[in-house]
Amino acid sequence: METLFSGIQPSGIPTLGNYVGALKQFNEIQDDYDCFFCIVDQHAITVPQDRLKLRKQIRQLAAIYLAAGIDPEKSTLFIQSEVPAHAQAGWMLTTIASIGELERMTQFKDKSLKQTDGVPAGLLTYPPLMAADIVIYNTNIVPVGDDQKQHMELTRNLVDRFNSRYNDVLVKPEIRVPKVGGRVMSLQDPTKKMSKSDDNQKNFISLLDEPNRAAKKIKSAVTDSDGIIKFDRENKPGISNLLSIYANLTEETTDTLEEKYKDSNYGEFKTDLAEIVKEFLTDFQEKYNNFYNSDELDEILDNGRDKAQKASFKTLKKMEKAMGLGRKR
Ligand code: TYM
Repeated sequence: METLFSGIQPSGIPTLGNYVGALKQFNEIQDDYDCFFCIVDQHAITVPQDRLKLRKQIRQLAAIYLAAGIDPEKSTLFIQSEVPAHAQAGWMLTTIASIGELERMTQFKDKSLKQTDGVPAGLLTYPPLMAADIVIYNTNIVPVGDDQKQHMELTRNLVDRFNSRYNDVLVKPEIRVPKVGGRVMSLQDPTKKMSKSDDNQKNFISLLDEPNRAAKKIKSAVTDSDGIIKFDRENKPGISNLLSIYANLTEETTDTLEEKYKDSNYGEFKTDLAEIVKEFLTDFQEKYNNFYNSDELDEILDNGRDKAQKASFKTLKKMEKAMGLGRKR
């Protein structure tokens, strides 16, 4: 069976964007791969975090993975900082990455602009750590949203570089992005991505938003003024974004939705979608609360850590050997 790896940062509460772009596809393919799902807390500290808030968000994210359908009997769910091989391999890959290629990363550029107290070096060296997350499990496939494409390309380049410079040690991973929903957009500004760290609460729906509040956010989402319900990302980004959210929460396609709403106005469409989002969140949060408050959650994370540690050790040692680190044994 091939191996799958993906991660989410506990840097806030995941949004509907994280659900559609990542969590939903994790759930759908966990039967087909040996899956590792990670709470990447070491990535989260590349920008300043409040210690107590981060701890809470780590546990919340674990419960969110489970509420989204990740089955700990099938998949390994764990916290990055509890498996030292990530940081160890991350350092090795940092030494083969060039500053120039890291500075070209869009996410580095965007996030560094927002830093007022100096740009943390970890923001720059973030992608080799992400590459390490992936390669230490000999990962074949990485399901992510659209915004991670550039980091994935870099990961693939680092694998090629490591393999040609040292030894053919690392597996080169493939990226998997959903056909519709790889990039869920902000509700108030549909030209920018929906993000869990957005300052404006109206731009995103958090998976833990009060369902009625989330419904209101959908109803007040920005659309255009021509009133036609049609999927056209370029010219009609607002309504296309809502169509893709609708399609992903219901298993309908944007084509069948266009047909279904061809005689309706935006108000009617938004009222239906608001109801769908409300129902989805109500059901999701019920599952979430059960996991968050259970002792089982710690057991799942302990088991996940042990399995991840075991699975990553071999490749880590191979990497060290290939680079000549430590002693010959
Ligand atoms: P993060 O925490 O920003 O996002 C987690 C996942 O959600 C996807 N995503 C979206 N998908 C659709 N629409 C959106 N608006 C949207 N926003 C986010 C992301 O693409 C991602 O799949 N660097 C990663 C975490 C990471 C990782 C890894 C991922 C660290 N190591 C190894 C895969 C493999 C990140 O910041 O994701």
